[in-house]
Amino acid sequence: MPKSKKEVSRNIKSKKGRGKEKANSFSTPKGMHDILPQDQIWWDKLINAGQELAELYDFYRIETPILESAGVFERSLGEATDVLEKQMYILKTKGGDKLALRPEATAPIMRSYIQHHLGYWAQPLRVYYFGPMFRHEHAQAGRYRQFHQFGFETIGDADAVYDVQLILMMRHFLELLKISDIKLQVNTIGCRVCRPHYQRKLQDYYKPLKKKICKDCQRRLEVNPLRLLDCKNEVCQEFKQNAPSLLNNLCQNCNSHFREVLELLENSEVPYEPNPFLVRGLDYYNRTIFEIFSGENNLALAAGGRYDYLAELLGGRLVPAVGGALGMERVIEIIKSGNNSAKVPTKVFFIAIGDQAKKAALPYMIKLRKAGVRVAESLGKDSLKSQLGAADRQKAKLALIFGQKEVFEESIIIRDMKNGAQETVSLSKIVEEVKKRLR
Ligand code: HAM
Repeated sequence: MPKSKKEVSRNIKSKKGRGKEKANSFSTPKGMHDILPQDQIWWDKLINAGQELAELYDFYRIETPILESAGVFERSLGEATDVLEKQMYILKTKGGDKLALRPEATAPIMRSYIQHHLGYWAQPLRVYYFGPMFRHEHAQAGRYRQFHQFGFETIGDADAVYDVQLILMMRHFLELLKISDIKLQVNTIGCRVCRPHYQRKLQDYYKPLKKKICKDCQRRLEVNPLRLLDCKNEVCQEFKQNAPSLLNNLCQNCNSHFREVLELLENSEVPYEPNPFLVRGLDYYNRTIFEIFSGENNLALAAGGRYDYLAELLGGRLVPAVGGALGMERVIEIIKSGNNSAKVPTKVFFIAIGDQAKKAALPYMIKLRKAGVRVAESLGKDSLKSQLGAADRQKAKLALIFGQKEVFEESIIIRDMKNGAQETVSLSKIVEEVKKRLR
């Protein structure tokens, strides 16, 4: 039936109303995501692999607050870096403190190392961490405003062997997660002896080109010349290729450190690509830096390097250190899309039919749980069919069916969810009968 004008306009109004309601409802802030129950198996898989790795390499867990004094990052990341200039979430407390949501964890860990005198422990100190980081980035696939890192830091030794061990650990991590198609890029950015000299050379080379390079590079030329090497803009590529090379301008010590790193990588039969344009986005690095990619993807899965001056920047003495962190979201995206299957927990599903059975079921469910059996249920549902459906959806190995008859006879039916075979057993033997079948 054709609608009257009045009806149509009423309809439009109510649709408009619905739209408004939607606009007023809440969702996660841009670039931030919920991690829903169905995805937790992937996160557990990654965290378990990371913790297994930490044990194998004798690393200890450290946790620092998500909020730090903004100064921790202002002093250490470098004034002219994107993270500091554009991406920090800063908040002022009522008491007037300026705090930052941590954009990364290396600087906070060094702050903690100094604050708690961890230099008195056996050195190098080996610590690992995982948790959320915050950067106000231009949000897009694989680049988020809240993301998670799993990282490792070796603090208190300058030997190149630790640079390589860190890189090997990151590879080992990805191997444990069955990610094999990986590319390792390494470079060195020298030290405070050779880098300033090189930066001047770079500025001398770029100054006559100032009008030809992109806007970002014009700024980099003044504030952070090393990042000229990192420019992805088409117009700058040719100039980049012909720029003086840092490798040819390293001091003796940095030269032999880098040579040792490459030799150790070769001895360990680790394929790598030297990338003279790799400079990293955080300023606390010196000497070795690395990034790990997967397949053709140009977003790094993991990255890190040496940061021998960070302790000094934060007010401590000179403490050489090296570390790296893996981007958990980026890695989870790969393991989820691959053939890797996350382990589904082994569980039984307790089906109680009728009020009497529901009441009698609780002590038996507790008994099973105390014996280490994972028990799921949907006691709010009444019918056997709907509860069996739920058991199936949850991939339970066994369903335990408990109706009025079973309450009366003090028995329970154990159903194998794979082949449908059912057996009635005595309620007093429920734990041993279930455990026997789960073995
Ligand atoms: P980073 O390169 O800034 O280094 O981050 C390490 C990894 O975190 C990246 O390779 C990437 O996988 C992931 N990641 C970074 N930003 C995002 C983002 N916006 N969205 C999703 N994933 C992201 C550091 O943070 C250093 N603290 C690593 C380190 C540890 N260096 C020495 N020790």
